[in-house]
This record gives sequence, C-alpha cells and structure tokens, in this order.
Amino acid sequence: MEQVKVVLQDREIPKKWYNIMADLPTPMKPPLHPGTGQPVTPNDLAAIFPMNIIEHETSNKRWIKIPDEVLQKYLLWRPSPLYRAYNFEKLLNCPVKIYYKNEGVSPAGSHKPNAAIPMAYYNKVAGTKRITTETGAGQWGSALSMACQMFGLICRVYMVKISYEQKPYRRMMMNTWGAECIPSPSNLTQAGRNVLAEHPDSPGSLGIAISEAIEDCVTSKDTKYSLGSVLNHVLLYQSIIGLEAQKQMQKLGIYPDVVMGCCGGGSNFAGIASPFVCDKIHGKDVKIVGAEPSSCPSMTKGPFAYDFGDLAKTTPLLPMYTLGHDYVPAPIHAGGLRYHGMAPIVSHMVREKLVEPRAYDQLKTFDAGVKWARSEGFIPAPETNHVLAAVVDEAMRAKEEGKEKVILFNWSGHGLVDLAAYDAYLAGKLQAYELPDHEVERALNAIKDFPKP
Ligand SMILES: Cc1ncc(COP(=O)(O)O)c(C=O)c1O
Repeated sequence: MEQVKVVLQDREIPKKWYNIMADLPTPMKPPLHPGTGQPVTPNDLAAIFPMNIIEHETSNKRWIKIPDEVLQKYLLWRPSPLYRAYNFEKLLNCPVKIYYKNEGVSPAGSHKPNAAIPMAYYNKVAGTKRITTETGAGQWGSALSMACQMFGLICRVYMVKISYEQKPYRRMMMNTWGAECIPSPSNLTQAGRNVLAEHPDSPGSLGIAISEAIEDCVTSKDTKYSLGSVLNHVLLYQSIIGLEAQKQMQKLGIYPDVVMGCCGGGSNFAGIASPFVCDKIHGKDVKIVGAEPSSCPSMTKGPFAYDFGDLAKTTPLLPMYTLGHDYVPAPIHAGGLRYHGMAPIVSHMVREKLVEPRAYDQLKTFDAGVKWARSEGFIPAPETNHVLAAVVDEAMRAKEEGKEKVILFNWSGHGLVDLAAYDAYLAGKLQAYELPDHEVERALNAIKDFPKP
C-alpha cells in the first residue's frame, strides 16, 4: 500500500497565522482615501470593520496568535488532509508527484470558513450584532452564514444574481444556517437600484454586490461588513492552509518545486502560497503559480493601478491588478473568480516576480475538472478547476522538459452544489470566453484619473 494522505492530529494544528507583510522584500503601496488621496487610516475603516480586524488589516507583525475560540471551531474540520493524487498522476502520465490540500472537507465545502470563523468571532468580541456581505458563487456567503450562526450574529448576504439563479442550493445552505440571501443587484440599496435602472437584466458582479453590502452596513445599526477575499486580513486568516501543508510535507520529507492555487480575489492562493513565498524570499528555489480565468484575467491582462474594490466606489482605492471597477465579467460558472481586481498582496507578489500568473479558459478548466473527478473521485468546484488546468499544464511542461517535479496545490472546494455547471459542460453548452482587447482599453479608461501607484 502506498501512503495516500497525511493527517495531522488536532494538537498539531498551527496556533498562529503567518503574515507575509513582515517579509515582503519591498514595501507595498498603501490603500488611499478616495476623497483626500492620502493613505487610509484605521479610523477611515471603522465604519465597516471592527478595530480588532482593522489591526490585522494594517499589521506588519509576522505571527498573529489564533484565539482559542477560533481554534476550537477550526478543529471541526482542520487540520485538513494533504493528499497525494496518485490516480491523477497515472492519468497524466508525466514525471510529476502531485500533492494537494483538500479544503473541500469544511462544512461549507471550501477554504472560505478559514476566514469566516475569525471574522465572526472578532465581530462578536467587538459588540457587532449584524454582518452584511456579498458572495459570488455562494461559497463565501454560506461560510459566513455558518460562522455567524456559530457566534450568534445576524447575517445578510448579497449574492451575485447569475449565481443566485445558477446555484439555488447555496442560497438554501445560507438559509439553513439562519442567514438571509438577496440576489444582487437588488432594489434594497441605492447602488442596486442604480444598476437596475440602467441594466434591468444585469447578471450582477462581485463589484456591485460589494457596493450593496457596504451601503447596507453603513446605513444600519450595530452592523459591520465582511469581505471574503482581497484584503490583507483575509489572506492572513487563510495562511493556516500553507502552514499545515508545510508541516505535512515535512513529515514526508519532501519540498515542492511548484506551489499553485486558483485566484479570484486571491485568498486561497495566498493562503497556501504565502509561507512558501516566505521561503522563496529567503532563497529557496520554488515556483509559485496563480491560475485565473481568461474571461477575468486581472493579473495577466489588467494594468497595476489604484482602483476601487466595488462599482459604487465606496471602498478605499487599492493598489492592484484590475480590469476596472465597472467591469462585469462574462457569466462563467466559476462565480468566485468573477472579480475585477486582485488582492493587493498577491498583486505585489506578481510585480516582484515572486508569483507567476496564468490564465485558463472555462472549457480547459472543466476538462481538467472532469479528468480529476474520473480519476481521484472528488468533484471539484468550478473555481478549483482553474488550478487543476494549471496542474495539467505544469505536468505537461515537466514532460517536455524531461524534468521530475513535485507539485503542491490547493484544492479549494468541492463542486457538489455546482453540478448544473458540469451538466452544462457535459452537454457541450459552455463557452470559452476570452477578454477582448477593447475591454482592456475600457479598463484603462475607467481608472485613468486615479492616482498612479
Ligand atoms: C471553491 C472556491 N475556490 C476559489 C475561490 C476564489 O476565491 P479566493 O481567490 O478568494 O480564494 C472561491 C470563491 O468563491 C471558491 O468558492
């Protein structure tokens, strides 16, 4: 028998999160207040986040202690298993060993609860009663609904309309965990009403849903807002993935040549990658690859610029690769990757050549996902299929180069609530969207008057 997985004991769970901000070789550009053009202060963020989370957002401390209450919830499914994908390796027939972290074992089915649990916890401690948020595919919304229920908070989720329609089971999960789920754009907010007035059939986007959730937060009592990706504190909480993976790989006595993840706002990718990026900064020879959709290719086609995180321009200006805050991506099934920007930390790592971005179209990603399901059994989320396409690509490169490689990647979630997407793919109904060049021009136009990083 070959060893298929490495499982850590409860007592071996990492007790601190790792903050890559402490090790970046060059300083990041600060987020700017859109009114003053000056770096945002903690007080600027206090209307939407509690101070304990703002401290993490702005922290340069390398290690941050995970509260016992958070660890206790993490133990419901963490440490997540590290698997060797022997069957997929056999199918690919390339000189690669493939290891992956299975984040699909969480109650919500993805990595998202890693951040949702601490966010609900810190809000509870700070006296928040109600949280608003947005969700793309519904993974984040369901994770936060569960976390809010665990800590006794009310939760309202604005869900991108196209996903709300494509994925009714995610809404049902949110409702089961006691949250309210609203299709966005909605007529509950001015931001939503503005979009509906111009585009009554808008499929929605994360940018629009964020505007709605923030507006709801700042116009309601005892309410804070929660973002499921992009910001520094979210990436910090996700570092538990990479920290566990390092322990597990150490137990096998193996170090990866390539570390990979799919990128929507950047949180699961940074989660697995940041401890390895730290090693790379300190001289280790490791390649780090982020996979994004070719229909929403912020890192591979967008400019690095200051831009808003949302359509209604309510967030600070963030230094990031962006397709413009008004970009509405094609309605691909990987709803969690339909975001116009990329986390400032991930964007910075790309600029510093610590991370290599690659883009894959929807058909390639589903081809890889179906191959995976038919060999390894687990059915991946459409978002996760992007990293699988990158793994296939990397394995083929290894074959061409005649080199043996160890690949480690993050299997960000299962696709059991996304079967309609597989149905459409198997029936030949999915399209391979590419971002047309005129869209890049439009993106540049949307941000041309903003400060330059
Ligand atoms: C399964 C899964 N993977 C990946 C993502 C992308 O998000 P992020 O880039 O923040 O990890 C999502 C987002 O909803 C998701 O649901």
